[in-house]
Amino acid sequence: MEFIGIAPARRQNFPPPVLKALTQSAARRPARRPVLQIEKLQLRRGDTIILDDISWRVERGQHWVILGANGSGKTSLLRALLGYFTPTDGKMVLLGRSFGRTDWRALRKHVGWVSSSVRQLMAEEETALETVVSGKFAMIDLWRRGSPADRRRAQQLLRRVECAALAERPWRVLSMGEQQRVLIARALMATPRLLILDEPCAGLDPAAREHFLQFLQRLIRRESSPTVLLVTHHVEEIVPGFSHVLLLHSGRVLAAGKTSATLTARALSRAFNARIALVKSGDRFALTVSPRPDRML
Ligand SMILES: Nc1ncnc2c1ncn2[C@@H]1O[C@H](COP(=O)(O)OP(=O)(O)OP(=O)(O)O)[C@@H](O)[C@H]1O
Ligand SMILES: [Mg+2]
Repeated sequence: MEFIGIAPARRQNFPPPVLKALTQSAARRPARRPVLQIEKLQLRRGDTIILDDISWRVERGQHWVILGANGSGKTSLLRALLGYFTPTDGKMVLLGRSFGRTDWRALRKHVGWVSSSVRQLMAEEETALETVVSGKFAMIDLWRRGSPADRRRAQQLLRRVECAALAERPWRVLSMGEQQRVLIARALMATPRLLILDEPCAGLDPAAREHFLQFLQRLIRRESSPTVLLVTHHVEEIVPGFSHVLLLHSGRVLAAGKTSATLTARALSRAFNARIALVKSGDRFALTVSPRPDRML
C-alpha cells in the first residue's frame, strides 16, 4: 500500500463554500462507518521504525484507552492520525475520509486534541472563556474574535466541564486540573466527533486526578459525547465507559479489543516488560509490578 501524502496547504486552497461543503459532507456520513480505520500503518524516520503494521478500527459509540510503555509509539500514532506525522506506508481513513485524498486540515476541525504540547501553546493572559472561544477556530489555524453566540456557547461548555466560575480568570493562574478541563471545553467548542486526550492526568495530584476522571466518566456517558481516545500509562485511569483498549509495544499493536478481554495481567506484563499483577476493584483497575529478580537485594 502506498500513501499519496497530504497535498501542501497552498495547493489545496479551497474557496470557503467548497471547504464548507467538504466538512459538512464529512459530518453527514452514515453512522455505520467507523470513526477510524487504519490498516498496516507504518511510520519510519531515517533508520528508525516508529510504528509498524498497525491495524486498528474504532467504531462510533466506542471509547478507547491507548496503553503502552514509554516510547512504544502512542503519541506518534496520534500525531499520524492528526496528519502531523506522515506515514510511510498503510492506509488511514478518518471520519470517512482517506488520508492522502482529503484536505486533512479541514478534517482536523472535527478532531479535538488535548495534550501537554497544546497546553503550552495557550496565551497566558487570556481568560478561560477566551481560551474556550478560540477553540472554535483553532483546528483550522485561523485567529478570529468570537461572536456573542460563541461566548454564550463557551460559557455553556465551561459549565459542562464544571468550571463556570473560572470564566474570567487568566489562563496562567489556573491549576493544572482546571487547565485540563478548560482545554477539553476548548476542544468541544468545535463540536468534534473525535476527542484525543494524550496523558491528560499527567501532573495532577491524586484528588485532582480522581475528580478529573469522574468528570471524564460523566462526559463519555452522554450520548452526545464525541468518541474519546485516552492515552495513559495508568490502568487506574480507565474509568467505566472506556469500552476498548489498544496496547502498543515497540511501535506495534500487542493487543486490541474490548477492555474486559484485552486488559489482562499477561498482556500488561508483555507491554511493560515486567511481571504485573492486575486487580479489579469494583469497576476500576489497579496493578502492582513485581521487582525484577536481578534487582532484588
Ligand atoms: N521524528 C522522529 N524521528 C525519530 N524517532 C522518533 C521521532 N519521533 C518519535 N520518535 C521515536 O519514536 C518512539 C515513540 O515515541 P512516542 O513519543 O510516540 O512514544 P510514546 O509511547 O508516546 O511515549 P511516552 O509514553 O514516553 O509519551 C520513541 O523511541 C521516539 O524516540
Ligand atoms: Mg507520548
